[in-house]
Amino acid sequence: MTKVGIDAIEIHTGKLRLDLANTFAPAKGDEPEKYTKGLGLENSSFPDTYEDIVTMGANAARRLMERRDLTPQDIGRIDVATESAFDNSKPVSTYIAGCLEQVFDGDFHHANKGERKFACISGTQSLDDAYNWIRAGRNRGRSALVIATDTALYARGDAGEATQGAGAVAMLISEDPDLVELSTEQGYGSADETDFLKPNQQFPSVDGKRSVQVYLARMREALEDFESVAGDTHPDDFELIPFHTPFPGMVRKAGLLGFRHMIRDTNVEEDLAGDIGRQPRREAFDSDDAFLDAISEYTDRLKETDTYREWYAETIDPTLNIARQVGNWYTGSVHVARASGLKHAYENDVDLTGKRLLVGSYGSGAQAEIHAETVQEGWEDEIAAIDLDEQLAARYDISFEEYERVHDVHNHDKQAEDAEEFTNPEDEFVFDGWGRMGERKYRYVE
Ligand code: HMG
Repeated sequence: MTKVGIDAIEIHTGKLRLDLANTFAPAKGDEPEKYTKGLGLENSSFPDTYEDIVTMGANAARRLMERRDLTPQDIGRIDVATESAFDNSKPVSTYIAGCLEQVFDGDFHHANKGERKFACISGTQSLDDAYNWIRAGRNRGRSALVIATDTALYARGDAGEATQGAGAVAMLISEDPDLVELSTEQGYGSADETDFLKPNQQFPSVDGKRSVQVYLARMREALEDFESVAGDTHPDDFELIPFHTPFPGMVRKAGLLGFRHMIRDTNVEEDLAGDIGRQPRREAFDSDDAFLDAISEYTDRLKETDTYREWYAETIDPTLNIARQVGNWYTGSVHVARASGLKHAYENDVDLTGKRLLVGSYGSGAQAEIHAETVQEGWEDEIAAIDLDEQLAARYDISFEEYERVHDVHNHDKQAEDAEEFTNPEDEFVFDGWGRMGERKYRYVE
């Protein structure tokens, strides 16, 4: 069977940076450690006044197409995943295609374009759509462009304000990919939940504490569903486990529960039994409460073992490096986590060719999906080509007052007149005002 997966990836960060420990925490009267230690975040990315989901997505896609020497004729579909769309009818992919047509010869008139919505998981769902399209033999040798782009903003004063971010990930999905092959096996955990939603409003209504519990519950269901088709998982099976990362502290919780689940009935559980006992089994307890207390105590002991700590440091922690610097990018977040883990391996001379990843995606509302990926031979060249470090270093560091101004500029309900930009656009698409039918217009700046 032909391999199908991610052939290339590019990341575009919003060009502004909010320092959470030194700028945001003091303004909010919080201790910096709440951000750096508790949530695990140092900075958030924000879009400059001329940036939005279209410019960020188009800039990532342009770089990807240029680097891989692609023309519009090589692309058979453009799927945009976003939960920050500004139009209920015309998809963001049409705007992005329009941008790309300004700089590439040819057009995308024979490419299928769409927009996917299911909170943060729609980036992964768009990968699925591309995978299925290629597997069905409908791609005529062409690749799909999947773009996950979001301005993840919360209302001012909302607890989620600490976890904001903005950026885009563009991915090329092809036969015989250079980066990772996607597994056919997938697992889902999906339920009607009201943990985080935007009922025709820009900023989310969030039940933050509950959203954390829903994330963990759906992720567990997805893992069990994955195992029902792919067989039991073991911690040694996967070199990296990138998760959807609303903030690294969330993944710290998910990683621990995932490890506990994977070691059940394995040599790892046996080896640890002398020090921390075996995992409590429900049948040994008279009540759910007694069982939950026992499993919670076991989990606390597990967290302190060298076995767990070493596994976490190698398999999970590297996937969080970029998120710590950029915050939550919603649909792009799990794809940033994958790139972060691969980048860390590349920089530390770890050879991942043929090795496997387990990828945990999540979207509020709520659904988790788990699949495996196999790293392909060309992965090092692909990861080396990403210029994210330069982009992160070039971000403009905003003060708290500037943060409030930028937040207002991107608030659809506010008319921010004459908003001054903080950075100078160069070789990129910029927002260029509104057209006669209320459409947003874009221009490429040399
Ligand atoms: P909060 O109430 O501001 O923070 O909200 P907190 O008081 O719970 O503190 C956060 C952590 O920092 C805690 O750690 C504290 O103990 C710790 P934990 O106990 O959870 O391990 N802490 C400190 N640590 C060290 N030193 C200190 C200190 N102070 C506190 N001095 C909350 C946190 C996540 C609820 C909030 O940020 C929020 O509402 N975020 C938005 C929702 C969210 O991100 N949910 C995540 C799961 S849902 C999801 O991932 C989907 C999403 O991406 C959307 C989509 O799918 O579209 C959001």
